[in-house]
Amino acid sequence: MTQLPDPLQHRTADYPIHESFLKRWSPRAMSGASIPHSDLQSLLEAARWAPSTYNEQEWRFLYAPRDSPHWQTFFDLLMPANQAWCVKAAILLVVLSHRVFSRNGKPNAVHSFDAGAAFQNFCLQGTHMGLVVHGMAGFDREQARTKLNVPDDYDVEAMIAVGCPGEIEELPEELRQREIPSGRNPVEAFACEGPYAI
Ligand SMILES: Cc1cc2nc3c(=O)[nH]c(=O)nc-3n(C[C@H](O)[C@H](O)[C@H](O)COP(=O)(O)O)c2cc1C
Repeated sequence: MTQLPDPLQHRTADYPIHESFLKRWSPRAMSGASIPHSDLQSLLEAARWAPSTYNEQEWRFLYAPRDSPHWQTFFDLLMPANQAWCVKAAILLVVLSHRVFSRNGKPNAVHSFDAGAAFQNFCLQGTHMGLVVHGMAGFDREQARTKLNVPDDYDVEAMIAVGCPGEIEELPEELRQREIPSGRNPVEAFACEGPYAI
């Protein structure tokens, strides 16, 4: 049986950073075990403290634990390629963002940006707790909107799978060799001084 790899054995930072950024990654191997509700509350608590424009906190998280009546609805939103490994997840979530400011109804240009910050807090807390947390774009957004009663002024952003780490052998064969922490482009590939010159 093969345990999930240690990201610190696969990733090196070019400049000094806190190791939590390297330790966060997106495994797919989960055990199928459930997670206590208090753990989910901790993940959401971390998301709660993300920064946002005017402290708008426009992220919303809908969730379905595996043993809840909502599980199948959430699971059915996923593309088959994600269902193949999410079958062992403990909780599925759908992240929404409010497109307009709650105080005046005017468009909020950074609603997705802020929801992404909340997602990253959620991920880092999950890493700290030894959980698998894996973001997903591969699902049916329109079905999510309809089946989960998402109001018109909210965007459907992403789904998240949360679970306990599992054995790589239990993944479908085509996913086994991809179960390795990935690398990154260097800083110079995405940041420059002054006008765009990348
Ligand atoms: C918004 C978002 C959507 C993603 N969608 C999927 C997905 O549908 N299926 C999947 O297996 N991984 C998905 N991923 C995981 C990415 O492929 C992964 O984050 C990326 O390859 C970097 O690897 P790391 O998270 O392990 O560092 C998604 C990640 C994010 C943040």
